[in-house]
Amino acid sequence: MWSTRLAFILAASGSAVGLGNIWRFPYTAGEYGGGAFVLVYILCVVLIGVPIMMAEIMLGRRGRRSPINTMRALASAEGRAPAWQLLGWMGIVAGFLILSFYSVIAGWTMGYIFRAASGLFTEIDATGAGEMFSGLIGDAERLLAWHTIFMVMVVLVVARGVAGGLEKAVRILMPALFVLLVVMVGYGMQAGDFDTAVAYLFEPDFAEFQGKAGEAILSAMGQAFFSLSLGMGAIMIYGSYLKRDSSIAQNTMIIAGLDTLVALLAGLAIFPIVFAHGLAPDSGPGLIFQTLPIAFGDMPGGSFFGALFFVLLLFAAWTSAISLLEPLVAWLVENLSFSRVRASVLGGLTVWLLGIACLLSLNAWSEVKIFGKGFLDLFDFLTANILLPLGGVLIAIFAGWMLSRASSSDELQMDDGPAYRLWRLLIRYVAPIAVGIVLLNAVGVLGWIGLG
Ligand code: PFF
Repeated sequence: MWSTRLAFILAASGSAVGLGNIWRFPYTAGEYGGGAFVLVYILCVVLIGVPIMMAEIMLGRRGRRSPINTMRALASAEGRAPAWQLLGWMGIVAGFLILSFYSVIAGWTMGYIFRAASGLFTEIDATGAGEMFSGLIGDAERLLAWHTIFMVMVVLVVARGVAGGLEKAVRILMPALFVLLVVMVGYGMQAGDFDTAVAYLFEPDFAEFQGKAGEAILSAMGQAFFSLSLGMGAIMIYGSYLKRDSSIAQNTMIIAGLDTLVALLAGLAIFPIVFAHGLAPDSGPGLIFQTLPIAFGDMPGGSFFGALFFVLLLFAAWTSAISLLEPLVAWLVENLSFSRVRASVLGGLTVWLLGIACLLSLNAWSEVKIFGKGFLDLFDFLTANILLPLGGVLIAIFAGWMLSRASSSDELQMDDGPAYRLWRLLIRYVAPIAVGIVLLNAVGVLGWIGLG
């Protein structure tokens, strides 16, 4: 169990805040033209993400086991089909796929710590930053080395059990990352094109969605699930270590609020530089790696602050990665009586192998495409936009329709007042219907039956 309520909030925010906020949010928003995407994203967080996060924590705390066994136990307690445990299995697959590419991107972050510290950012321009980035992702051996080191770091922590070290690290490093982001926003105000960036992010222009609204909405929703760590059991398992007397609704608001704030700050730090240097907002996954070096290279003490920034980002990625491996490891320990060490090493090795396919898709295997995407892009798309939302719908249906009213109001510790009713409305109708429509549209079903 978490020693305090704060420990739970820190661990869950440690899972939520990561590369998704700082690397993925800005470039995805950039790919879909900014403001309209950001608005849809925020709506998804509030109307879908928050109720589903409450549901995940609630189910985890009621089941008190790994997600697969929690779902099995709860299904049986409520007299529902044992097939609900498939939800837990889906989460393990999603966690594997996410971690395999997440680790590669965390590797980029490590590479950038050293580039910053050795002064390579000093007075770098947009062309130089672009070349630095393509040099890194073109070098398979380097990527493999970083990916390997990161996976070893993840396995080491998971093997020792979640609490303890994680709690301490998050308590210091998260606020530090936050402060540094605020400093970067300050830099953007003073040296970047801040006004253009604010207008870009906060003045929705739906014309940007022209012809690709379905895809843009799918991506905004996927980003919400990814960023909040929802739909795969990571938050569920952290909920399973949460004490009975802690308010799930309040904790959720804090975690979701913090996560969204960090993503918006990242956007406000990056886009002023993008516009001041005439870079393209839609330049893809390399966006922060091509913009931040310019800012650090231009500010006093930039080598130090640059290195520090990437160190903190690495820690944020680390605490997220741990939560991606945890559901599988907990299951192996509970069901196959593996030791934690053996379970973590086995899981880590499998992810490591998958990660090699991801990093090669950036260079040697760049011609290998499945559904028009390389492995890294494919895993990213498949998990964030399909598997996590699908897991989320199932969680919503289970929490809203399969679990009795008495059970959910007891576990959430909410009596039948307006707050509980609102949650139930969102979890029973709004979340499943909204996510369902977006997913059906994505797989082409709506077009096929003549509604899309
Ligand atoms: N939320 C993490 C991020 O934004 O970087 C990524 C993540 C962690 C997704 C854990 C899913 C998950 F279960």
